[in-house]
Amino acid sequence: MDTTISWKDLGFRYLDTGVYARADFRHGTWSAIELCSGASLSLHIAATCLHYGQACFEGLKAFRQTSGRVACFRPDAHARRMIMTAERLAMVPPPESLFVDTVRMIVAQNDAYVPPFGTGATLYVRPLLIGTSAVIGVHPSDDYAFVVFAMPVGPYYKDGMVPVRAYVQEAYDRAAPHGVGHVKAAGNYAAGLIGDIEVKAKGFPVSLYLDSATHSLIDEFGTSNFIGITSDGRYVTPKSTSILESITNDSLRVIAADLGLKVEHRPVRWDEIENFVEIGACGTAAVITPISSITRGDETLRFGPEDRPGKTLQRLYEEIQGIQYGKIADRHGWMMPVG
Ligand code: PLP
Ligand code: COI
Repeated sequence: MDTTISWKDLGFRYLDTGVYARADFRHGTWSAIELCSGASLSLHIAATCLHYGQACFEGLKAFRQTSGRVACFRPDAHARRMIMTAERLAMVPPPESLFVDTVRMIVAQNDAYVPPFGTGATLYVRPLLIGTSAVIGVHPSDDYAFVVFAMPVGPYYKDGMVPVRAYVQEAYDRAAPHGVGHVKAAGNYAAGLIGDIEVKAKGFPVSLYLDSATHSLIDEFGTSNFIGITSDGRYVTPKSTSILESITNDSLRVIAADLGLKVEHRPVRWDEIENFVEIGACGTAAVITPISSITRGDETLRFGPEDRPGKTLQRLYEEIQGIQYGKIADRHGWMMPVG
């Protein structure tokens, strides 16, 4: 392994650990999990993942906890989401047990790459599912490859949780109401790139998308869910057929209720935005990103302190990270030990 890694300087970037795991669905059955070296796949030029978008992925983290042991955060929930995604894309999903076993194997294999406790860095695990059969008429692949690799990433915020400015992207929609926005289809990310690039060019790190049918409801940020906190202690997050069911958000809703907040998971109108005293974007990579302002056209609305997270988002962040790093009891059974 590369022993020169400076854990504190890691970004959210690809880093080769020299090993990945793979299982194949062929002739109607899943193979055993195989450990492979290198970082390349050999694909048929007519594979359905290349032409017809039969490709999806997951992203989850493994943490070196205070005890020195390594544990993954909710791999079973990520497995179920990949199954839901695969079914929507007419792909054959890996069974939940195959997904979880492969994740645990790759985390165990990469033990030396799981950053030490206290660095704020983690092991990011990327499961990938692709259609591999050669197909030219538009129909689903018979064969699939399930690949899992991992790399050390982060700390996402080297200077702590610094609030960022968001911009409402209305020139492009992220997802249609009965499309594939609720699942982790690879193509969703290609479709979102141009909108995110244009918003970044205006100087805003994050884009916010509204529902594509009416632009009157809040959907989600480019790669993270929306959370609004009200002054009377409500945790409000949109429910919509076109947003990804974030596992971070699902967990934060449970934690919010534990902490005595009233959780509202329902359609959220844009015109409710001024009711929020704190706004956050949540996802696996950054956990919670505080949003200091949202600009829609000529109008800019401000939320929470400009230089630090508001106290409710800070409290939620500490609680979920406490559970992930084993500093707080895993009262909901979310951490799956490895090794
Ligand atoms: N929304 C989108 C579009 C995403 O890509 C992600 C990241 O995976 C999320 C939300 C957050 O989901 P999770 O918390 O499961 O990582
Ligand atoms: C996240 O994990 O929060 C993400 O936004 C996933 C992204 C890297 C695809």
